[in-house]
Amino acid sequence: MNTIVNEGHIRLKIPKAAKISKSMGVFYNPAMGLSRDISVLLLNSLNRGNMQIADPLAATGVRSIRFLKELNKNKIKKNLINDNSKDAIKLIKENFALNNIQCKNNKKIQITCQDANLFLLNSAGFDYIDIDPFGSPNFLLDCACKRIARNGILAVTATDTSALCGTFPKACLRKYWAIPRRDAVMHETGLRILIRKIQLIAAQYEKALIPIFSYSKEHYMRAFLKNEKGKNNVDNILKQHGLFNEAGPMWLGNLWDKSLAEKMHKNAVSSKIFKNNKELIKLLKTIKEESKINAVGFSEINLQKKCSIIDKIKKRGYSASETHFNGQGIRSGIPASKLARLLENK
Ligand SMILES: C[S@@+](CC[C@H](N)C(=O)[O-])C[C@H]1O[C@@H](n2cnc3c(N)ncnc32)[C@H](O)[C@@H]1O
Repeated sequence: MNTIVNEGHIRLKIPKAAKISKSMGVFYNPAMGLSRDISVLLLNSLNRGNMQIADPLAATGVRSIRFLKELNKNKIKKNLINDNSKDAIKLIKENFALNNIQCKNNKKIQITCQDANLFLLNSAGFDYIDIDPFGSPNFLLDCACKRIARNGILAVTATDTSALCGTFPKACLRKYWAIPRRDAVMHETGLRILIRKIQLIAAQYEKALIPIFSYSKEHYMRAFLKNEKGKNNVDNILKQHGLFNEAGPMWLGNLWDKSLAEKMHKNAVSSKIFKNNKELIKLLKTIKEESKINAVGFSEINLQKKCSIIDKIKKRGYSASETHFNGQGIRSGIPASKLARLLENK
């Protein structure tokens, strides 16, 4: 049995299910609508058009249908949609029809049912690849890194946060080649561990994948990385891998391109679809502020004190903001000893 839901500008046929799980006929999680909102905003905020887009794990097709309906004119040259489930492909086609998008003889669209690695390898390359798997993205990273074009964007989701955030440290070591730590900063360190893993896979092909927008939310983490080719760029990336907070190795460079973070927030606030989405606007506003601060990690502060401490830090001439990683966190450039004195009210 199917039911119809709305997401963004589109309507979607999805399986009726008592519980959101991998065993749904075809997977759809409304909570990931925010992840799709962010993909749309990010692509609309980049100065790029005529893109070849890959959606290798498409499920209901929701992400690509939203791209086709919500991305600015001239953004998409071709959108390739794939899933290895026949049920998914049937539903994707029905969802295209539901949204009045003609698939047959449409040069902009290609729908295939094959293994995602073959789908990527059989292509000439993409300007945007969106890896949105169940659990770890590992199984697709090699082919995605091979097929991401120069200046292309690789978007990667991981939902195996129990490994990345340290509940299962041995799993993290096996899967991400790093030691995690379960503490107040774990969502940031987990995301940085994931980014380093992606960068190491790409480095083999002399591709430097630089994070332009990254975040952690509820049960998942997501990073958008831009492929800047060249040996020197790769060497510079590897120099920024190291330990933090007794965890790692991890990526110690920037998690965001701050002008992009600013533009995404601005575009969301002025967009018909997104301006009333409080959760999205709040996340983008917080990230916009924290992207301006060059600091790895943050300090967890008593919630009542948070705003006054941010003001005090700024009055002393240091940068400070909330962090989206932790409701009690402050990201700041202030030295730890000075922050400790401030907290003691000295
Ligand atoms: C988490 S869902 C994708 C959700 C979708 N991107 C969205 O935004 O709703 C993962 C999808 O990957 C598909 N899948 C899993 N392994 C695959 C593989 N090796 N090749 C192709 N598709 C695969 C599953 O059938 C499932 O539809």
